[in-house]
Amino acid sequence: MNILVTGGAGYIGSHTCVALLEAGHSVVIADNLCNSKRESVEKIIDITKKEVTFFEVDVTDQEAVDVIFNHNNIDGVIHFAGMKAVGESVEIPLTYYYNNIVSTMVLAKACQKYGVNSFVFSSSATVYGDNAAPFVETMNLLPTTNPYGETKAMSERILSDIAKADSEFSVSILRYFNPVGAHESGLIGEAPNGIPNNLMPYVTQVAKGTLNKLRVFGSDYPTLDGSGVRDFIHVVDLAEGHVAALDNLKKGAHIYNLGTGQGTSVLELVKAFEEANGIEVHYEIVERRPGDIASCYADASKAERELGWTAKRDIFAMCRDAWKFEKNYKDLVEIK
Ligand code: NAD
Ligand code: UFG
Repeated sequence: MNILVTGGAGYIGSHTCVALLEAGHSVVIADNLCNSKRESVEKIIDITKKEVTFFEVDVTDQEAVDVIFNHNNIDGVIHFAGMKAVGESVEIPLTYYYNNIVSTMVLAKACQKYGVNSFVFSSSATVYGDNAAPFVETMNLLPTTNPYGETKAMSERILSDIAKADSEFSVSILRYFNPVGAHESGLIGEAPNGIPNNLMPYVTQVAKGTLNKLRVFGSDYPTLDGSGVRDFIHVVDLAEGHVAALDNLKKGAHIYNLGTGQGTSVLELVKAFEEANGIEVHYEIVERRPGDIASCYADASKAERELGWTAKRDIFAMCRDAWKFEKNYKDLVEIK
């Protein structure tokens, strides 16, 4: 299939482009590079030795999106493009609502206009709010504590309503847990701008010496060791989950958790990183971070049952590959 991958230059999108190309699909990327670099498109080509068509466009721009559909024989869409910083979404909610929801509507409209009925959407475990883990797709969604989470819940509803009204439309809504790690080549990975919000890039930057010390947010959660528990998933497993979702699309809207089904605490992750890489990670325990929940992990059985997909890579592979990318990325920056 010829897949339009919005946000394909970003972290999860770039790994998914590699997985799609390796599975024999072709890829058209649409990305405005607001949180990524063109370089990552070159890296996708380096890794796969395959061609990629790239458009630097904003996918909230209906005319620009129509031009892509008009000239590229698109068979399906994977919609990653979106803004994802939870804290920032509280500060600039309108930007988040506009970007994340209008992009979904513009793409759905183009799909209707050009008769494209295959759609895969990047959602998030954040839509479960503070339901109790393990999270199951059938749970009622609770309001999230931030506009980012609301944009995901609303986009899910919009796409589900379109599928209800149009019996030809197939949409897979993928709720990701905590993607970490990088492609084993070390060429693509997570390179956030500024000080990272997320745990793994913070850990790798502390290991590298760019940041002083990790702050572990909270030691009094009702978990094994008091620190928060998350379902960390290797980004390459997540990427392969998209190929499985695309290959198993069926009419209507279908929701899948993409996680490992296993919780790992923040302190366990730090220890695994130290063991996997033989490097000490300095940390201190501080207050809880507002808005965090104690435990977030998936019931991942539906994806296994219906998509034939399970995550294969363990926490050590996640830590090893995240560190490999961080070291490599530093080298790239120094060479410049
Ligand atoms: P990312 O920021 O690395 O990638 C998103 C890409 O979309 C970037 O390349 C950015 O330039 C592009 N983009 C943003 N708005 C755009 C627009 N209007 N037009 C064109 N391009 C645009 O983020 P990621 O971690 O790869 O996340 C991909 C998707 O997965 C997002 O929708 C995110 O909300 C979702 N998600 C991410 C996580 C996570 O922890 N990384 C968890 C759950 C869900
Ligand atoms: N944490 C720290 N120190 C840090 C950063 C994080 O202790 O410097 C802790 C957090 O308190 C939490 C865990 O590490 O317990 C994971 O935090 P992240 O910020 O890495 O990830 P979140 O679980 O908060 O959220 C992530 C994405 C969301 C997505 C969600 C899905 O950022 O966009 O996973 O589960 F919705």
